[in-house]
Amino acid sequence: MNDLQHNAIATWERRWLAVAGLMSLVFVMLIAFSLATEGTHIARRSGRTTPEQLTSHELFANPGVRQLTNRKFQVTLVAQTFNFTPSEITLPVGSDVSFYLTSRDVLHGFQLQGTNINVELIPGEISTINYTFNKIGTYTTVCNEYCGISHQNMLGVVNIVSSSDYGRYVQARDAASLAALQEGALGEAIYTVNCVSCHQANGQGLAGVFPPLAGHTPELLAADRSYLPKVLLYGLQGSINVLGDGYNGAMPAWSQLTNEEIADTLNYILSAWGNDAVSTDFTPYSAEEIAAARDLGLSANDVYDIRKGLALE
Ligand code: CUA
Repeated sequence: MNDLQHNAIATWERRWLAVAGLMSLVFVMLIAFSLATEGTHIARRSGRTTPEQLTSHELFANPGVRQLTNRKFQVTLVAQTFNFTPSEITLPVGSDVSFYLTSRDVLHGFQLQGTNINVELIPGEISTINYTFNKIGTYTTVCNEYCGISHQNMLGVVNIVSSSDYGRYVQARDAASLAALQEGALGEAIYTVNCVSCHQANGQGLAGVFPPLAGHTPELLAADRSYLPKVLLYGLQGSINVLGDGYNGAMPAWSQLTNEEIADTLNYILSAWGNDAVSTDFTPYSAEEIAAARDLGLSANDVYDIRKGLALE
């Protein structure tokens, strides 16, 4: 190599070094800019728990919104396949929120669009993050970790409303929960929060992916009354045939729900979408019946074996 060639190469090397240095500088400036305008919101680990302990955990037994002071709120939220509990959160503008987040089963994400909140939810870990909502609006919560076949339906919402709207919301919510308790509409409310993303609001499921409950659960009830509580308590794993379509998904266990909640949900399913016409002499499930099935210690595979023993069409 002669001197001329050597100098040409050295010149290009200096140019590439300058470009690389400039790019690093731009990145650092962008990070500094977002820190200055948005602040840092990095989740901290605030404790450990196990998924089994969640039903009796002081924070997660009844996840939701708690007002601590005039402006301070605590939001506890549990992620599970495939929803957030609670899935809808309403808060007044200006609220200073401490989120306590965890997962009941697999890795999920908690990303709040329009903010820089993005937390990985790890089973067994409690993550904490603080955020002050200064703008009225609707913020969508998305799960950004692939967690299974219905991952894309794992959405929630945070509504930030004016103080006067919040006052009206709280009044309406309290009135509605009182009315729901009086009318026994708890089952429908639980179905809407937990079951709709797979089995759909009309109970029809998704052909080949999530089995229908409409027109199907009455035959399960008729075949063996003790079967449906086991599906909700322990889940169901195995390939099944429902109303002419094959399914090979996994129904998760819902043992985190109380006995009364499971009974009410089953009673809702068995009387919605024309199911009551199929099971005319239906006696509603009681919390005691669910309690009796709770200590059997079955697995989702055991429930599958029980199902295979049922006399179904
Ligand atoms: Cu949960 Cu994806």
